[in-house]
Amino acid sequence: TERPIVFSGMQPSSDSLHLGNYLGALVNWVALQDEVDPIYCVVDLHAITVAQDPAALRESTRRTAAQYLAAGIDPERSTLFVQSHVPAHAELAWVLSTITGFGEASRMTQFKDKSAKQGADGATVGLFTYPVLMAADILLYDTSLVPVGDDQRQHLELTRDLAGRFNSRFGETFRIPEAYIPETSARIYDLQDPTSKMSKSAASDAGLVRVLDEPNATAKKFKSAVTDAEREIRYDRTAKPGVSNLLDIYAAVTGRGIPEIEAEYAGRGYGDLKKELAEVVVDRLAPIRARTFELLADPAELDRILALGADKAAERAEVKLAEVYERVGF
Ligand code: ADP
Ligand code: NA
Repeated sequence: TERPIVFSGMQPSSDSLHLGNYLGALVNWVALQDEVDPIYCVVDLHAITVAQDPAALRESTRRTAAQYLAAGIDPERSTLFVQSHVPAHAELAWVLSTITGFGEASRMTQFKDKSAKQGADGATVGLFTYPVLMAADILLYDTSLVPVGDDQRQHLELTRDLAGRFNSRFGETFRIPEAYIPETSARIYDLQDPTSKMSKSAASDAGLVRVLDEPNATAKKFKSAVTDAEREIRYDRTAKPGVSNLLDIYAAVTGRGIPEIEAEYAGRGYGDLKKELAEVVVDRLAPIRARTFELLADPAELDRILALGADKAAERAEVKLAEVYERVGF
């Protein structure tokens, strides 16, 4: 039986992925490789919907891909590639934009939020049509399942609507994808502000743990993590968000259950928890960090892997695009 096709992408993020990206997304991507036919994409076309520095984008695209590989994405089992290397994404996005209602696109709440921050002329048409490009990413590959967080749910609905609309207007062409919510999916919060999601766009660096940070920097960040005025190491998301976040990270990194970790720390202080958690995190990230730097030090090898991935992706995408072009009358 054929494995379900899963499409997922991450924007090339600044210098390094953070612990939320790793534990919340990448760990699942790696695990899925045994069960599905995964297509993992560094979505650099999406990244230029807000102003970019060209050299920084080029560097972070390579770094992001290197971290995927270092974390265990296997280019044999996964189709791993950079979005701009496969022209069919932009080409299908154009066709889909011609069946997207202007009003329909205007209802996307992420555009409203992001454009509000950019000011009247700061927001571009590219930012506006971002969800149409995302639809193209997904529909090109006959994707069945798309891992999505809450912020992307509305975009996936649009994707499903566009697929259905195209099919009914031009004939059965696209598979209608479903949202996929992994059974185990960690949500990691900022160490300094444990009610906010850990995010690269956080105002301060202090609560953001990066995969490529120096071990000392990581230890320091855990040491100064915000907790509370009690002493008890107990999981309570509402009353003790800081401690609960530390326990969640501990559980996600070690694969142990929260009650077991609470029991181990019964009668011990926050200092012990922070110190030992920093150690398990650093140990977990060390080989990923080392492998990432190894890959970045050998540009020819990384280029070779990404070129093979782009070939694999393009081969699939071009079949679908040719079908679409035929259907619309090209
Ligand atoms: P950021 O919020 O830093 O901008 P992205 O939005 O680019 O990160 O997310 C990339 C991937 O990482 C997505 O799959 C997202 O669900 C996941 N992710 C991001 N932050 C977290 C977090 N704090 N906890 C769990 N998963 C996260
Ligand atoms: Na984000």
